[in-house]
Amino acid sequence: MKRVIAIYPGSFDPLTNGHLDLIERGSKIFDELIVAILRNPEKDPLFTLDERLEMLTAMTCHRENVRVDSFEGLTVDYAMRVNASAVLRGIRAISDYEYELQMALMNRKLEPRLETVFMMPAEAYSYLSSRLVRQVATLGGSIKDLVPDLVEKKLREKLGSPAQRQAARRSKAGKD
Ligand code: PNS
Repeated sequence: MKRVIAIYPGSFDPLTNGHLDLIERGSKIFDELIVAILRNPEKDPLFTLDERLEMLTAMTCHRENVRVDSFEGLTVDYAMRVNASAVLRGIRAISDYEYELQMALMNRKLEPRLETVFMMPAEAYSYLSSRLVRQVATLGGSIKDLVPDLVEKKLREKLGSPAQRQAARRSKAGKD
């Protein structure tokens, strides 16, 4: 019987609980799920590729049919290289739909054999994005319950604790 391999491509900068929720759901319906981190030379990510690979691997290694990889270039080319027949993407709200539809249709134009499968994360994560997590963490807000503990710890290591950041802001304001 044909094994259905899916890729779940993204930036994962950083991995959030919404991503993990989708990985869990995807791993239940596909025989193999490859979480594929885009190596984008034009972007300046908060976490290096190695850091993102490490965090994603640590958080998914309990799932036998999930593996983590990285890729550069077109998603469809990568999907064909790993024999995937589906691309998994999450849709949180209507606002995601237009961009995701555009991407799915472009990918279909480029590679008609590849299907995009949309899944919805739990409602609790419907407002969550890596961009907001980066912003809130950088400005000293709490990101507890939004990212795995490991990611929270790594964010703190990278950005300093909320108290340290507040102190740095106060000291900067004092100098201005
Ligand atoms: O997590 P993100 O940033 O929303 O993921 C976007 C991603 C990586 C899925 C998308 O940018 C992508 O597929 N990039 C690879 C380049 C590509 O294939 N472009 C054509 C598809 S529209």
